[in-house]
Amino acid sequence: MRKNVVAGNWKMNKNLQEGVALATELKALLNGVTVKCDVVIAPPLTHVASVVDAVKGSIVGVAAQNCADKEKGAYTGEVSAEMIQSTGAQYVIIGHSERREYYGETNEIIKNKIALALQNGLTPIVCFGEVLAQREAEKHFEVVKSQVEEAMFGFSPEDFGKMILAYEPVWAIGTGKTASAEQAQEIHAFVRGIIVEKFGKQVADDCTILYGGSCNPTNAKELFSNTDVDGGLIGGASLKAADFMAIIQAF
Ligand code: 13P
Repeated sequence: MRKNVVAGNWKMNKNLQEGVALATELKALLNGVTVKCDVVIAPPLTHVASVVDAVKGSIVGVAAQNCADKEKGAYTGEVSAEMIQSTGAQYVIIGHSERREYYGETNEIIKNKIALALQNGLTPIVCFGEVLAQREAEKHFEVVKSQVEEAMFGFSPEDFGKMILAYEPVWAIGTGKTASAEQAQEIHAFVRGIIVEKFGKQVADDCTILYGGSCNPTNAKELFSNTDVDGGLIGGASLKAADFMAIIQAF
């Protein structure tokens, strides 16, 4: 089902105590307030179970920022989708550009992670997006198409329907340089179009596609007002409860 979603990706920020405090502050801000979107926070893995506890009784869902591409076994340092699910988290971010760039994640690896997330009842929030050179060379449609097709299209329509997509142009991440509302809408509509071709209109209409990249309390409303932009994946601005709350209230 297509939903409005505002998700905060804390990346590698906040220690355990700071993370629990931030989650608790967000819960307090949301208390008694009616919002028009689902709210998700993605703390570092070490904090996930504690943050699940901290937000209990609120509308806030919890995501991990990554999961292993293997089920279990001798993979030192890795954390499986099943382990994440066992903490009470409901979501997992997969294929973030920082993982693609710094940890060599390919569309194939991302596809395996999505499969494991789905098998374990987690909602994958799957990221894709072009780098600056690709946008400048006007290759962004091509790049986005191959990322979406290779990582996400090898699933049944039912499984595809369980994913949340997140378009994050890499040149807009942490740079303060947001994609314009038109640029975001253009890619989101393009992605919805290729979903129509692959899975049909109903699946495409039901698909939630988030925008990520320097989204903040000032620009969120304009970005979210686009027909094909169903919310945001927020980095920096999710680290301050008041800013994140303002983005939630942009809906
Ligand atoms: P910023 O909002 O800090 O640009 O980060 C976006 C992002 O990468 C969210 O996953």
